[in-house]
Amino acid sequence: MDKIVIEGNQPLKGTVRINGAKNSAVALLPAAILADSTVTIDGLPDISDVDTLNSILEDIGATITKDSNQTVHIDPSSIVSIPLPNGKVKKLRASYYLMGAMLGKFKKAVIGLPGGCYLGPRPIDQHIKGFEALGAKVTNEKGAIYLQAEELRGARIYLDVVSVGATINIMLAAVLAKGKTTIENAAKEPEIIDVATLLTNMGAKIKGVGTDVIRIEGVESLHGCVHTIIPDRIEAGTYVIAAAAQGEDVIIDNVIPEHLESLIAKLREMGVNIEQGYEQLRITGPNKLTSVDIKTLVYPGFPTDLQQPFTTLLTKAEGTSIVIDTIYQARIKHIDELRRMNARIKIESGSVIVTGPEKLEGALVKASDLRAGASLVIAGLIADGMTEITGIEHIERGYENMTEKLIQLGANIRKEKMTTNEMEKMNVQLNL
Ligand code: EPU
Repeated sequence: MDKIVIEGNQPLKGTVRINGAKNSAVALLPAAILADSTVTIDGLPDISDVDTLNSILEDIGATITKDSNQTVHIDPSSIVSIPLPNGKVKKLRASYYLMGAMLGKFKKAVIGLPGGCYLGPRPIDQHIKGFEALGAKVTNEKGAIYLQAEELRGARIYLDVVSVGATINIMLAAVLAKGKTTIENAAKEPEIIDVATLLTNMGAKIKGVGTDVIRIEGVESLHGCVHTIIPDRIEAGTYVIAAAAQGEDVIIDNVIPEHLESLIAKLREMGVNIEQGYEQLRITGPNKLTSVDIKTLVYPGFPTDLQQPFTTLLTKAEGTSIVIDTIYQARIKHIDELRRMNARIKIESGSVIVTGPEKLEGALVKASDLRAGASLVIAGLIADGMTEITGIEHIERGYENMTEKLIQLGANIRKEKMTTNEMEKMNVQLNL
């Protein structure tokens, strides 16, 4: 087991290059199995969620060859719809995309209920509503979803909740269905456009992605293609926030600035000096930060995935900031850890209230989920003294080489093996 150790207070300076988007990658890989011939995906992030999905695809018969960890060729011609009720599918949330993809391709699938970060209840009722509307019989038996259809027929589907996962999953099932499908109240996240771009390059007929009505005309078959993934707006946003918190002069490279408009607007409101270039952002500091309120919303609103890192930044801002996460109200496990580091934060009626500025102090803390981990890394960067973060397997699910990238920016950060003694001590301290 590894931990991250940070000696805080080092100014960040230099350039950090952003990888392909995790939340695209984990949908593009399942989407590839809908083709009859090889799909090449370029720009994949080198993260454990991608490794797990590649391994699941191999389990069901895909042949995967790699030029590097970033460029993979997926030959889906020998794939079979074997049941996947347990095992690797439980490791990540995005395994639910195998439901749409296998249902679309084979008209049947058995997939265990997905795992991933615990952010409170994460139902998939809208996915199921979509599959049923397309003609599938869906049952939940012993923690696995069984999907079966004689044939899939296009339908008009109104999502009761704007959902990234349901929008993508219904697209995956509908591209090979007979006739026309309309998804109303669809999500508009850039990752959805990326998946639709891949599917279109594979021969699918999809219109309206990026708006809240997506129209899909089913086709007989899909073919291989080459696709380059979009940059990860959440990884980029995390480094932007780190730079706003501790940066002297940081360039974020390979970013689509328009994907981060809500974050950039909030940072400017706080007093952060941020310049927008062609596929780059430059943050210069230090800046005197003032408090702001944020409310997470569906795209293009402020992303829930940046709420936790942003909360850490708010500890440096003068005044009182209020954070409301309307997507995942229970995404607050980082708060206790930030408090251990001296942050003045409280939770009142579902709102997180941060009072600053407060100088954070290094402590022993635990990452409970991916973005909580990112928020604690940023806290360690700005804190006085040494911070040790455990639970870093969560961070490695979604951030490629985070420690290496921060070292390049001048941070004093390293990964270390935990000793048995430390692990025991850790458990005692965290269970107090
Ligand atoms: N929801 C329902 N029913 C459904 C689906 C969703 O009630 O059938 C609710 C959820 O409980 C939540 C809201 O709708 O309150 C939005 O959920 P959504 O389906 O959009 O989220 P998701 O597809 O499960 C993806 C990302 C998350 C990201 C959210 C929101 C992937 C693999 N995950 O999750 O990413 O937070 O969209 O943008 O794409 C992360 O990267 O750290 C992460 C958790």
